[in-house]
Amino acid sequence: MTAFAHSSVLLAEVLEHLEPRPGAVYVDCTLGGAGHARAVLEASAPDGRLIGIDRDPSALAAAREVLAEAADRVTFVHGRFGDVADHLATLGIARVDGFVVDLGVSSPQLDRADRGFSFMKEGPLDMRMDPTTGQTALELLRDLTIDELGDVLRDYGEERYHRKIARVIKDAIRADTIATTLDLAKLVATCIPMFEQRKSRIHPATRTFQALRIAVNAELDEIEKFLAVFPDLLEPGGRCVVISFHSLEDRLVKHRFRDLAWTSSLPPRLAREAGERVEAVCTPIARKVVATDEETATNPRARSARLRACERTSAPNLPAQSRP
Ligand SMILES: C[S@@+](CC[C@H](N)C(=O)[O-])C[C@H]1O[C@@H](n2cnc3c(N)ncnc32)[C@H](O)[C@@H]1O
Repeated sequence: MTAFAHSSVLLAEVLEHLEPRPGAVYVDCTLGGAGHARAVLEASAPDGRLIGIDRDPSALAAAREVLAEAADRVTFVHGRFGDVADHLATLGIARVDGFVVDLGVSSPQLDRADRGFSFMKEGPLDMRMDPTTGQTALELLRDLTIDELGDVLRDYGEERYHRKIARVIKDAIRADTIATTLDLAKLVATCIPMFEQRKSRIHPATRTFQALRIAVNAELDEIEKFLAVFPDLLEPGGRCVVISFHSLEDRLVKHRFRDLAWTSSLPPRLAREAGERVEAVCTPIARKVVATDEETATNPRARSARLRACERTSAPNLPAQSRP
């Protein structure tokens, strides 16, 4: 068995809001260690199907082992969930009964030093979830100007000392004194005043690493692309369950779900004439569900998890601009 240990967060809550049933088709957009996928397959046995997407080939390899017993009900897709409409079209599937999206990185990605995600372990500055394609973190640091890097640290890391950190990193890139995760972590620590470090519970490089990871993997673009298309791919009554781990992700999900639930305040006839929605495209079924104390005690990753879910109505999709 591949060593790919990832404890799935909010597992019971995902099942509660997805309501998997036999005969239905589900998409796990972030297959990872396949904990959620296995539970969905069990709950939809004997004939529920699952499309499992992951951009990380090593996650897919591990998931194949975990799901071996139900392999005839699973289709594995190496790719990004932002392209989910294309993936489903390639499989000849127009609509599904549910999506699960469990954002962020998996524990094995963080734990393996050679992936370059961790500021605690010496490794190359890589951070690509899919190591077969795209720019590494080091290549990105070389490419960005000081201002661009500062913006990345501010926007994706909410890092207060973004300007100083960007300047110091670019100096180190020019002097060729930075190549590894620990080089970067030490450098960032020199930019954050001691009094801030003493009062903070997190490592001084946490925000910088988060920001670079988001930029390297275009994580927010991926979420936006998925959120734009998923209602068109859901059967009426189908559900979408999303778990996010920081406010940047959660905000995108919250706003999109709110937008899809919006209906015109005009009387139905006038609303139709104005091209405004009479019926919501999706209705929210769970807002900001958090892990129980029992779960956070055994899985610290669950502490920042937020689950939101919505259900597709039978309303047709209207173009986004129909909302004032
Ligand atoms: C938190 S883990 C998922 C864990 C999984 N739910 C489980 O129960 O084991 C997130 C996974 O999503 C993958 N991932 C993140 N962003 C992705 C994207 N845009 N497209 C496809 N996979 C993505 C990562 O490679 C990682 O394996």
